[in-house]
Amino acid sequence: ALERTLSIIKPDAVAKNVIGEIYSRFEKGGLKVVASKMKHLSRKEAEGFYAVHRERPFFNALVEFMISGPVMIQVLEGEGAIAKNRELMGATNPKDAAAGTIRADFADSIDANAVHGSDAPETAAVEIAYFFASTEIFSR
Ligand code: CMP
Repeated sequence: ALERTLSIIKPDAVAKNVIGEIYSRFEKGGLKVVASKMKHLSRKEAEGFYAVHRERPFFNALVEFMISGPVMIQVLEGEGAIAKNRELMGATNPKDAAAGTIRADFADSIDANAVHGSDAPETAAVEIAYFFASTEIFSR
């Protein structure tokens, strides 16, 4: 099915100047960028976005990292976009990420792991609405 997913290029990858390389992988993978914005998240925004992880031991480190610099946030659209994006990203921990994936090539650690992508249709809908009004999304 035609799906949309929320993608974030995290502060580590923005600092490495690889936004374009990562966008190129989305496009070559058949995904279209239908919305995008650069943003330096406030603590409240980062905590709200990752609210499902609030009780996890890595929550504070995750929030600190996500507010350490600007991020690039986009909505990706395509057939099976959620799984496709996860395939392009590779495993959460770059040590486990398959060769040629975004995390294998650009991530340094499980915290500084270059990208975030929604994991299911329900979370994709919530995450997209967290950052974008429907008028900011341009289906083509
Ligand atoms: P992300 O897809 O953005 O979702 C939550 C983030 O928490 C995850 O990527 C990792 O960067 C970070 N994280 C840190 N430690 C862990 C862990 N043990 N398990 C899962 N995610 C972790």
